[in-house]
Amino acid sequence: MNSLKGAVLTGAGISAESGIPTFRGDGGLWRNFRAEELATPTAFKKNPALVWEWYMWRRSLIAKAKPNEGHLGLVELEEKLGDNFLLITQNVDGLHQRAGSKRLVELHGNIWRVRCLSCGAVYQDERVQSEDLPPSCRECGGLVRPDVVWFGEALPEEALKTAILWASSCDIFVSVGTSALVYPAAQLPYIAKEKGAKVVEINPEETPLSKIADIIIREPASKGVRKLLQML
Ligand code: APR
Repeated sequence: MNSLKGAVLTGAGISAESGIPTFRGDGGLWRNFRAEELATPTAFKKNPALVWEWYMWRRSLIAKAKPNEGHLGLVELEEKLGDNFLLITQNVDGLHQRAGSKRLVELHGNIWRVRCLSCGAVYQDERVQSEDLPPSCRECGGLVRPDVVWFGEALPEEALKTAILWASSCDIFVSVGTSALVYPAAQLPYIAKEKGAKVVEINPEETPLSKIADIIIREPASKGVRKLLQML
């Protein structure tokens, strides 16, 4: 087993090749709304049915999607590094788990879970459409929301703590398919760099992270992760 300690941060770009649009790239618009206009507590308060329609649309795309070579390559990396590996994802689509990743933390929640704003119940809800939006809580009938992190909201404490710990102690930090714009996730590679880790970026486009990356793989995730595996 390899003794290299690795942390990988993924964003929407890794799922783009599975047909799930990124948030800021082409195809990120839904009925002319940008993600930043829908994924907020204010938008939900104003129009929960509209926000839910968007999430149902994203769910239906995710349900049809399959994990791609990028996701599968990261499973191989996990097998290679064993306990010395952590996958940190900003994605809420669950494709890493479907690919077989085990050692992962979800920083932004999961689209297949809901949380009740009245009684706090959290449970799986895998519907991809509903006549009756917004859905109501199966426990108390209250308003439920997707159990994901919206703009301006705090990240799940344990997941963030674990991610920071790994960023601070890994030898190699790999950022895959993220615009590196959304904090606090975007801070992680900087923490790693400061603590002496090598930072690798896999992204077909330049991002703010490109300036400090030690190795840049300008490829889509499927090819890029494969190249990384060959390097290690
Ligand atoms: N392979 C790798 N990267 C890709 C690919 C691909 N095939 N296609 C696009 N990308 C890159 C884009 O160049 C871009 O840098 O993926 C990135 C996607 O950026 P965003 O849409 O901003 O997604 P992400 O970085 O995950 O956003 C962070 O913001 O909207 C919130 O909570 C949401 O988790 C999300 C967070």
